[in-house]
Amino acid sequence: MTVELKDRFNRPLRDLRISVTDRCNFRCTYCMPAEVFHEKYQFLQRHKLLTFEEITRLTRIIVQQGAVKLRLTGGEPLVRQKIEKLVAMLAKIDAVHDIAMTTNAYLLPAKAQILKDAGLQRVTISLDSLNDEVFRRMNGDKATVDDVLKGIKAAEKAGLTPIKINAVVQRGVNDQYIVDMARFCKENGYILRFIEYMDVGTMNGWQMQHVVPAKEIIDRVAEVYPLEAIPRSYASETALRYRYTDGSGEIGVIASVTKPFCGDCSRIRLSPEGQIYTCLFATTGTDLKTPLRNGATDEEIAQLICQTWENRTDRYSEIRTQIQHPKDKIEMYYIGG
Ligand code: GTP
Ligand code: 5AD
Ligand code: SF4
Ligand code: SF4
Repeated sequence: MTVELKDRFNRPLRDLRISVTDRCNFRCTYCMPAEVFHEKYQFLQRHKLLTFEEITRLTRIIVQQGAVKLRLTGGEPLVRQKIEKLVAMLAKIDAVHDIAMTTNAYLLPAKAQILKDAGLQRVTISLDSLNDEVFRRMNGDKATVDDVLKGIKAAEKAGLTPIKINAVVQRGVNDQYIVDMARFCKENGYILRFIEYMDVGTMNGWQMQHVVPAKEIIDRVAEVYPLEAIPRSYASETALRYRYTDGSGEIGVIASVTKPFCGDCSRIRLSPEGQIYTCLFATTGTDLKTPLRNGATDEEIAQLICQTWENRTDRYSEIRTQIQHPKDKIEMYYIGG
């Protein structure tokens, strides 16, 4: 039976983002800088990761608390072996209406059809620039634009649609290609979302001057392709949406820095090690793996989730300028956005 759980600000729990691994085959400078995540970097050992059975059990319990939308993330979710098995297990859970994956697309040519057959509905693909030199610089020289385009095509062919493309915008790095990206996605029917560069984690040396505000991004696109604002499709949607006035589709901006959307945030995150976090900028989570492995019942685990959610007061993006920045925020590669 589903219960209506509310946090301290009366926000329900609706979305579960599941990070299945802390590993990635890219080294994006704003997420896993290659100097830190070098060949000898110690990623989590296998026994520390939740098994697919454990993830499925926790997901079922979190779904009973109200989550209807699942997102698989990483690191890079496709580097977890046989991820399609997990997709198939999650897709069978009643009350899950929406199951998608956020991926860098590198492994999609090999996996797209298998994922679709397992029950995945859609993918969101990260692609920060269509300029090969810029893209390679941003991903630590691990992939070309063409590699990602092949992944996008494979996802399209398999019907993992509508395809969303996420592009993180950094001033002086890739912002000169905003309109190019918009044109490419408009012409191909992909829903592009520009993401304001965020101060997630502790590794990327984030500075406000590197952020291109959503308004500026939208103005630059609208100058070439006129846009009009449209409502969010659901209350907790991260993106501000716009449609092209020529009817050729939509575009979004995820404006966590300049237009925070904490007011309706209904997202809970499950880490690869089985902790739940109630904010992308959290410093601590609630450990579910220990009780799980010590034989806790579903009711006992549900109790821990309820307590965590009911005590939730997170609204980091709304208060980031007023608080002292914590030094031990969770990292993006660990919690998956
Ligand atoms: P749909 O758009 O519903 O398909 O989900 P999605 O997972 O494709 O995208 P979503 O809008 O959930 O997230 C896109 C990106 O927005 C993430 O990768 C993060 O970078 C960012 N994001 C997601 N949730 C949050 C959040 O709660 N707070 C902040 N600050 N950023 C978020
Ligand atoms: N700021 C904004 N977006 C980020 N992402 C990763 N790190 C950051 C950051 N610091 C994006 C990725 C991917 C999604 C999971 O989050 O590019 O699209
Ligand atoms: Fe990997 Fe995504 Fe982080 Fe890039 S942003 S290093 S693709 S997890
Ligand atoms: Fe939700 Fe935290 Fe993001 Fe605000 S900053 S939208 S509370 S995850």
